[in-house]
Amino acid sequence: MGVSLSGRHFLKLLDYTTEEIEYLLALAADFKNAKRMGMPHKYLEGKNIVLLFEKTSTRTRCAFEVGAMDLGMGVTYLEPGSSQMGKKESIEDTARVLGRMYDGIEYRGFEQEKVECLAENAGVPVWNGLTTEFHPTQALADILTMREEFGDTKGLKLTFFGKHAGNVADSLMIICAKLGINYCSCGPIATGEGATSYDPEFLAECERIAAENGCTITVTDDVEEGARDADVIYTDVWVGMGQPAELWKSRIALMSPYRVTSEVMAMAKPTAIFMHCLPSFHDTNTTVGKEIAEQFGVTEMEVSDEVFESKQSRVFQEAENRMHTIKAVMYATLK
Ligand code: CP
Repeated sequence: MGVSLSGRHFLKLLDYTTEEIEYLLALAADFKNAKRMGMPHKYLEGKNIVLLFEKTSTRTRCAFEVGAMDLGMGVTYLEPGSSQMGKKESIEDTARVLGRMYDGIEYRGFEQEKVECLAENAGVPVWNGLTTEFHPTQALADILTMREEFGDTKGLKLTFFGKHAGNVADSLMIICAKLGINYCSCGPIATGEGATSYDPEFLAECERIAAENGCTITVTDDVEEGARDADVIYTDVWVGMGQPAELWKSRIALMSPYRVTSEVMAMAKPTAIFMHCLPSFHDTNTTVGKEIAEQFGVTEMEVSDEVFESKQSRVFQEAENRMHTIKAVMYATLK
């Protein structure tokens, strides 16, 4: 029987089977091809969606907007602080209002329970554009990028450098486990300020899924073990959106040994690529980058500028793929 995702929410990858994820990836590749060929695909003309952002965004917002417009839909963007949600109106009530006006709702914000609550009450598909716990549309784009590079991804090794756990890392761990990709999390195994660790139940669940799909999950603090035989070296910022700026000091101290440098890339396979969800602090050409340099004397953080700009870097292809994969999610759930 074929896969049908019509009417489904897209809240976290644990809710999706391997077959359903494969379906979305194939659909995204088809949409990318259609766009490249200039083939119109306004399959959802007459529908409207709303983008509810409680945090800032470049890629996710633009991917939803352009994806929706390519599909022929109307889009409303509610920027952080511009709706009544949370302040004067509960999430339940917001969901019931928006669900009567729109065919789909995207949410970016804080706790996963908020997007789950929207989904329970909206009566239309709700898509997670990033919560504190998960970033599922990012992981879909990451795998599409890997497939474009390597073809089959089963049996490859992806190593995430930096802090254990987090919305991007956790979503990658799930999707790798579901698709038979060996996942390695390489960062400080520490306690105290700035330290992070996996929720044991979540880790056990991912290990169980990985075993079912013939791959492994490894958690290590050994840079060489992390990089060795890796096909993909991945990293993310050391202090995430919505986390306090005071964390920078402890995070820089803890995470600096895990910066992705040319030396790290040289330990991976010669064919290895570098990936990052972006935005990235690889130089001082940002306000935050400048402040960190002035305060801590660090001019590159999670990745060196050399690696970011290298031939091995796929970060902008990955960013473009946000749009194709998000389009696939919207189409599959709204058609
Ligand atoms: N990777 C990502 O989610 O980017 P934005 O924060 O710009 O949406």
